[in-house]
Amino acid sequence: MHNMNKVRMLEFQQRGDERGHLVIVEGSKDIPFDIKRAFYIYGSDTGVVRGRHANRESEFVLINVAGKSKVKVKDGEGNEAIYCLDRPHTGIYLPTMVWKDMYDFSPDSVLLVLASTHYNANEYIRNFDDFVREIQRDT
Ligand code: TYD
Repeated sequence: MHNMNKVRMLEFQQRGDERGHLVIVEGSKDIPFDIKRAFYIYGSDTGVVRGRHANRESEFVLINVAGKSKVKVKDGEGNEAIYCLDRPHTGIYLPTMVWKDMYDFSPDSVLLVLASTHYNANEYIRNFDDFVREIQRDT
């Protein structure tokens, strides 16, 4: 199972009042790492599959701050799990060395991604067979 057993849903506190909702996520408190980078994905059609990579160094938290999407996580040994992101006060924690596909985006989906690293293309594994080989090598 490797790092897949570290994948988990996070629930953040909602601080709502008559003015609306407020959700706060602080690095190393609500998010299990120091946040170095944030990006967000929107305007992806329902049929689109994004991600399709694993990361040697980066950890991520994904939050659908609007709309819905799904994340499929694979450990490279034949195990996979699917998570639905559909509430702005929940997120999914993804450790290093898990394969992830994001898909089934609703038209209003805004997927916020918090990362533990600055961007470095070299730590991305974009070929699934390479990912499986690295998993097997490290076992
Ligand atoms: P990509 O990794 O394909 O996005 P996703 O995993 O969300 O489907 O990234 C698309 C392009 O953006 C690619 O050329 C790399 C670039 N990029 C950055 O420069 N910095 C970043 O932090 C990210 C996530 C992507």
